[in-house]
Amino acid sequence: MTEINKMKLTVEAQSQNEGFSRSVVAAFFAQINPTLEQVEDLKTAVSEAVTNCIVHAYGGKQSGAIEIECTLTEGGITVQITDFGKGIDNVEQAMKPFYTTVQNGERSGMGFTVMQAFCDEVNVESHPGQTTVYLTKKI
Ligand SMILES: Nc1ncnc2c1ncn2[C@@H]1O[C@H](COP(=O)(O)OP(=O)(O)O)[C@@H](O)[C@H]1O
Ligand SMILES: [Mg+2]
Repeated sequence: MTEINKMKLTVEAQSQNEGFSRSVVAAFFAQINPTLEQVEDLKTAVSEAVTNCIVHAYGGKQSGAIEIECTLTEGGITVQITDFGKGIDNVEQAMKPFYTTVQNGERSGMGFTVMQAFCDEVNVESHPGQTTVYLTKKI
């Protein structure tokens, strides 16, 4: 579908940037007049993806880049969230409900499941040194 607009944002993998990234993506998405529910859905999914970069990608260190690239079309938005951290060994396993590599009970293992529930499409490409999550939300 024809691209209407694009934007790219780079933030540090710090917890305060979770809410920031979510708000920026929502403001950009607003350009194609989504419903409030569609905006809330996308914010929820972006939060999960960005949180994963913060929590998992860089081994909990509060440094490392997160790149967020958004593409608007007439039919919706695609959000690409990339980190340059350790990568995911087995993406299929990582995306299963309740699967988490954090053993202290702090994480639910539901991040990818939430992204899938709130978006129309979720794809993940990962190798050591880079993980990209693609979220598509239609309007
Ligand atoms: N950006 C990432 N970099 C490295 N590993 C990741 C990343 N995102 C997710 N993972 C891995 O996938 C698992 C499942 O993610 P998720 O469903 O969000 O559950 P949770 O974050 O609660 O563990 C994580 O426990 C982690 O091992
Ligand atoms: Mg998670």
